[in-house]
Amino acid sequence: MARKNRGASALKNYDESLVSKNITWVDIGIGGLDKFIPGLPKGDAILVRGEPGTGKTISCLQFIHQGIEENEQCVYITTEETPRTIVRTGKELWSDFEELVESGRIKIVNLSINAAFKSEFALITKEEVVEIVMKGLKSVGGRIDRIVVDSLSSLGRRLIDENEFRQVFMRLLLEFKNLGATALLSAEGIPATPDITEYLVDHLIYLDYVKSDVVWTRVFILRKSRSVPLKPQILKLNIEPEGLYVEEIPISLKPVWFQSRL
Ligand SMILES: Nc1ncnc2c1ncn2[C@@H]1O[C@H](COP(=O)(O)OP(=O)(O)OP(=O)(O)O)[C@@H](O)[C@H]1O
Ligand SMILES: [Mg+2]
Repeated sequence: MARKNRGASALKNYDESLVSKNITWVDIGIGGLDKFIPGLPKGDAILVRGEPGTGKTISCLQFIHQGIEENEQCVYITTEETPRTIVRTGKELWSDFEELVESGRIKIVNLSINAAFKSEFALITKEEVVEIVMKGLKSVGGRIDRIVVDSLSSLGRRLIDENEFRQVFMRLLLEFKNLGATALLSAEGIPATPDITEYLVDHLIYLDYVKSDVVWTRVFILRKSRSVPLKPQILKLNIEPEGLYVEEIPISLKPVWFQSRL
């Protein structure tokens, strides 16, 4: 079982008057984050970007599992990993994960390479993406609280015409907003020049590394947070068998690099 509140403390590092604002805050499931922000607003779209192995898929799983703990309806759209590997990673974190998927508490929509596609090359049209996603969302039958797309990059690669990614992305974002669901989307890498995905989402998180001498430290950066008074954050990110958790970054890692990222 993931130790969700690892690193958390009763002392909050943000202005607690934020909690009383007219915003429903969503806990995105990363351990210890509640010490630094009250959550992110319900119904918003959050993008998590990072290089391979930085923790995007684990963040997606923790986001969904937090929803389950809050008795919410959750959908996980996978475009890269197959449902089997998603379940395998989920089971490492929570012994009940497979059962949650099998019982339909967590709905996995399969857009990965092993899904049944019309094209024999496992590429997909924009219409087919929308059809499969909408079918998956409808099958939940009722309110949907949390949706994951892991990852947008892989979804773009699977399109027969990659130029149609913008249309697919806009359409999915619109459908998620109409449902009032909070969406966590992942994407590969941190581009030198921000792309359309970064501008269109409400909140942007980078999972990155910072090098100091020979030591590499994982970092979690809340880079943008639209329409709420949340300050950008840079936190130390830890990946352990219990999942991701954040804590205060050592002061020695903050200076120049830190400023260039925020
Ligand atoms: N049970 C675990 N205990 C400790 N570390 C783990 C565990 N499971 C995964 N990891 C580490 O977490 C890292 C992040 O995994 P994750 O699959 O979330 O990365 P990702 O950003 O989604 O990568 P990709 O871009 O390849 O999809 C892995 O590279 C691995 O080092
Ligand atoms: Mg991944």
